[in-house]
Amino acid sequence: MLKEVVVSGIRPTGYLHLGNYFGAMRNYVRMQDEYNCYFFVANWHSLTTHPDTRELKNSVHRVIAENIACGLDPEKVALYVQSDVPEIAELYLYLNMLAYKGELEKTATFKDKVRLQPENVNAGLLTYPVLMAADVLIQRAVKVPVGKDQEQHLEMARNFADRFNHRYGEVLPLPYAFNYGDELIKILSLDGIGKMSKSENQMATIYLADSDDHIRKKIMKAKTDQGPAEPNSIKPDYIQNLFTLMSQVSSKDTYQKFEDDFNASSEGNCIIRYGDMKKQLAEDMAQFIHPIREKAAAIQNDEVLLQKLMKQGAEKARERASETLKIIREAIGLNN
Ligand code: TYM
Repeated sequence: MLKEVVVSGIRPTGYLHLGNYFGAMRNYVRMQDEYNCYFFVANWHSLTTHPDTRELKNSVHRVIAENIACGLDPEKVALYVQSDVPEIAELYLYLNMLAYKGELEKTATFKDKVRLQPENVNAGLLTYPVLMAADVLIQRAVKVPVGKDQEQHLEMARNFADRFNHRYGEVLPLPYAFNYGDELIKILSLDGIGKMSKSENQMATIYLADSDDHIRKKIMKAKTDQGPAEPNSIKPDYIQNLFTLMSQVSSKDTYQKFEDDFNASSEGNCIIRYGDMKKQLAEDMAQFIHPIREKAAAIQNDEVLLQKLMKQGAEKARERASETLKIIREAIGLNN
């Protein structure tokens, strides 16, 4: 049976963190046996925010290395760099004719960027979702493992694909954001303000490259409160975030103990000790990240291996991408 096609990408704009891991990379690793997977480093996308390009190559290598260190097997999946697949740029051009200024201006990530960098509202930023749609549609993917923050972009990709099909014939399958659970994941920043991100409060973000000590320090500083006012309370989101992280890296028994303590706590009888919970989480998290950090560093230092893998990944990606482009050119009538 033909395997379903999966695409996802990560921008090389900084060190990868737990949000990237639990929102996306963990699913990549699970999907690699069941699906025909294409995972890439979105270096074109990173240019929209004008990064220091002296750092870019290093960041691209790090994202490749960290993906492999997390368990991605470059023999099973196509692991590549976006700019090595020029077919994406051509599809981006066609899709731009089907994307409207009004809808692009309404995109939540665009509005955020306008607020954050009013001096650099470039057209690439505006058409960011179009390039993202091209990444996905060039492989005719149906599932896209991403975190909650990318949901709107996937909705837009579906709209663009749908418009393409109406105008030029049924060529592109419609892609959907994917997570193994029912909902897409959003890991919050440890200070409780917004999502964990590559660039915002670094002390509240746990990176896959952080040392054990850094991990401990950051988790011990995570926002908590005096505990629930009554038994079986709803958890505030920053407390829920700690439980979510614990559910991923600690044993079931450990998680259950703190869950029971939380549910049995009330004002005047607070059983849960957030200090103890954070200490436990810090230890389990450090143990979880340690081997990933070591393996990623070793791969990142192996320039020959990295070059070989990126070349091999690009070849795999271009094979299907050029097939798609042929179909697309024919559908549009460009096969003169
Ligand atoms: P990027 O580089 O910001 O993030 C990479 C992946 O990590 C997920 N993620 C999170 N998930 C949960 N909680 C968080 N705090 C968190 N932070 C990041 C993101 O949802 C994403 O899955 N536009 C994309 C890159 C991209 C792409 C694509 C993705 C370009 N083309 C095509 C899918 C398909 C981005 O900036 O992700």
